[in-house]
Amino acid sequence: MGFKEELKTKSAYVEGLLNKYMPKEEGYQETIFKAMNYSLSAGGKRLRPILTLEAAKIVGGDDKEAIPFSVAIEMIHTYSLIHDDLPALDNDDLRRGKPTNHKVFGDAMATLAGDALLNYAFEIMLKESIDTENPNLKLKAIYEIARGAGIYGMIGGQVVDVESENKSIEKEKLDFIHMNKTAAMIVGCMRAGATVGGATEEELENITKYAKNIGLAFQIVDDILDIVGDEKVLGKPIGSDIENHKSTYPALIGLDESRKVAKNLIEEAKESISKLSGDSEFLKDLADYIISRDH
Ligand code: IPE
Ligand code: IPE
Ligand code: MG
Ligand code: MG
Ligand code: MG
Repeated sequence: MGFKEELKTKSAYVEGLLNKYMPKEEGYQETIFKAMNYSLSAGGKRLRPILTLEAAKIVGGDDKEAIPFSVAIEMIHTYSLIHDDLPALDNDDLRRGKPTNHKVFGDAMATLAGDALLNYAFEIMLKESIDTENPNLKLKAIYEIARGAGIYGMIGGQVVDVESENKSIEKEKLDFIHMNKTAAMIVGCMRAGATVGGATEEELENITKYAKNIGLAFQIVDDILDIVGDEKVLGKPIGSDIENHKSTYPALIGLDESRKVAKNLIEEAKESISKLSGDSEFLKDLADYIISRDH
């Protein structure tokens, strides 16, 4: 199977997992379920859940053990997108090829849908840990995800992203934004998957390096696509960063230089993941895909 086909198969598998965990749309609070499921089922590349499962596999673990964490990270990621699109943040109208959550359900429900996805993700992960004989590794995995999504991760990055609008900032600060708002959740979910898979310290270290590098490259490419992408293919608006006067890689060092930096990060990522004894072919191809993607 070629890489593209493999990626499709894996994302279809994740799609099935998400469907299983999505709440039933019933009861007095039905609207919140509808709002959660609207954004969750709108598609998306499902990269983070795939990375979670692959991290468990590459260290010789059973990827089934990582399923709740893969579902949880996609819920947390989807919440971050719903909130990121709100008028108070990036004020965007299109996400995953559909009107953004607040455009359909209103700002109040979109805010609550984000809160709900975040909380539900932890319900899923904690339920899994309570129902297990030895919860230690699972608790560690929950910590990794909480850390990646929190004030020392995604939320921290989003704060500085918002505060850096209409400003010219130094490269170190831009790297802080990108490492935190985007790479931290990729690091968190891969460390979670690797942890439940029984990774050694050395394996965790190499996986962390890989995740940091693809994470930073991922956001640099996201910044590039915001300028040169095709809205129909991307499924979200082009020009949002310029309109919001965001601090981005292309704004700071230009498109060509940004592409070069992303390419180098991907080469470094592939080097780190090759050091693992497990089969790293798919993760190396995935790293390459991150810079060649058009959506
Ligand atoms: C978008 O993430 C937000 C960023 C961190 C750049 P993705 O590009 O992974 O979005 P989906 O999940 O495929 O919609
Ligand atoms: C935000 O980065 C990443 C998140 C933590 C949601 P962007 O604001 O660039 O993401 P997009 O381009 O809207 O997906
Ligand atoms: Mg944003
Ligand atoms: Mg945005
Ligand atoms: Mg963007």
